Amino acid sequence: MTSDHTSTTTTEPPAEPPAGCPAHGRGAGGLTRLFGPGAEDLNALYERLREEHGAVAPVLLHDDVPIWIVLGHAENLHMVRSPTHFTRDSRIWTPLVEGQVKPDHPLMPHIAWQPIASHAEGDEHKRLRGAVKASMEGLDDRTLRRYINRSSQRLVNDFCESGKAELVGQFAEHLPMAVMCHVLGMPEEYNERLVHAARDALKGTETAIASHGYVMDALSRLTARRRAEPLDDAASKLVTHPANLTDDEVREHLRLLLFAAYEASVNLLSSALLQVIIDPRFYAKLNGGQMTVPEAVEQALWDHPPFSTIFAYFAKVDTELGGQRIRKGDGLLFAPAPANVDPKMRPDLSKNMRGNRSHLAFGSGAHECPGQDVGRAIADVGVDALLFRLPDVQLACPESELRYTQSISSRHLVSLPVRFEPRPQQDITHKPSHTNLPQPRGQWSLPTRQRPTPEPLPEPAPEPAEAPAPTQAAPEPVQERRPGVWRRVLAWWRGY
Ligand code: HEM
Repeated sequence: MTSDHTSTTTTEPPAEPPAGCPAHGRGAGGLTRLFGPGAEDLNALYERLREEHGAVAPVLLHDDVPIWIVLGHAENLHMVRSPTHFTRDSRIWTPLVEGQVKPDHPLMPHIAWQPIASHAEGDEHKRLRGAVKASMEGLDDRTLRRYINRSSQRLVNDFCESGKAELVGQFAEHLPMAVMCHVLGMPEEYNERLVHAARDALKGTETAIASHGYVMDALSRLTARRRAEPLDDAASKLVTHPANLTDDEVREHLRLLLFAAYEASVNLLSSALLQVIIDPRFYAKLNGGQMTVPEAVEQALWDHPPFSTIFAYFAKVDTELGGQRIRKGDGLLFAPAPANVDPKMRPDLSKNMRGNRSHLAFGSGAHECPGQDVGRAIADVGVDALLFRLPDVQLACPESELRYTQSISSRHLVSLPVRFEPRPQQDITHKPSHTNLPQPRGQWSLPTRQRPTPEPLPEPAPEPAEAPAPTQAAPEPVQERRPGVWRRVLAWWRGY
């Protein structure tokens, strides 16, 4: 994974035969393009490729640069776990070596080799990844979950009185940034501008370079501060790790952590929220206390992996994968999205994958995501906190009107408009105690939630003449006696 992600669907494709023509969506050598006309629905395209070629298919990137896409679950797993045969070092990629990939190729931020853990291998990978892992391992899960919960409450306070919200822009895009600023050691840098800059840098708009610069300035300041005086955060652990990272290496890995975590967590949180709001499977089970939010998040990781594909792995030797002959120097897209729905793995997609964590959303092998606990915690606690505060939350538009943007690397929900009964803000400055704990999930009395109907939004609640004083957090009747074991476990889990 690279730390920059730009839109990968922006280049103008060459003149195209009309839809319905067998040549539609195809380029050099009759190969299928992963961009332009015919590639509007990449998930459907992957299934067509699976039918046509099996577990590994030859495709074209922008400028008709050839690459393989690995569709099979077993084949993806084999590739990422075979460092003798495949590497993440793009410098051996034949189209790059031979100059077919131009410097302005839209995928260049993913393609260009960088001296970071994602692109390194062997001892160098061990050195860099060792420092990154150590920076994550110091995190106390309970403190982290408490922080995520508080940040979620703060975000909900911003819109709970209005009875409506747009959960991608007002919740999912903010929470991961607030959490990552805290984890890295720069909570004071978290603000609307930083969220905007990260979003902009990842979207690859005209202002992306300036936005990227804004984020990098914050990370440079953090590196300098922690070099001068290390504290107990991820940046300090990177600075003081025995791997002796230079300032540039520290900054580049802070960037990797921030962007990798941000983009993936925004996607995961958005799809998990959508799932628990609209999917009757989740709703029915959540209401009956059978399926927990972490299980719902896990299902979202199966069905909507935050990174659909990762650019890329490269063959170090001539080899064979999924019945295809792969030549030394060939590139292969690691592809969690088609792998997670491989019919050999999941013959019935409607079945939930409860208890099964063998999806490839976090990768596997030497480069497996070291931040998965943090990513899961953001989604688990964020969804839980929101549902707790707004148990009647429901979609404010027909599901068919939800829009997504799609690139080869990921699919984003653009917005998630919801409505709910307006509620007062809660005071989150008080140290939480068991008297304001959420009730155990099994006791929730969530109203029966219908599939969203295309009703107009209700009029916003009239503004009170004076802003009501924030109330102590107690939306549900809570018993005053000492909490039972389950409640204490739940309290611990929620980070109190
Ligand atoms: C929330 C959901 C997340 C998902 C789905 C996810 C997914 C992934 C995937 C698929 C990879 C690449 C595997 C490969 O190259 O083969 C990866 C790598 C990485 N992720 Fe995550 N990630 C998530 C969150 C995070 C978070 C929260 C952090 C940091 C706190 C993080 C830090 C990293 C780093 C540093 C790497 C590079 C590791 C290496 O190359 O050795 N990720 N992630």
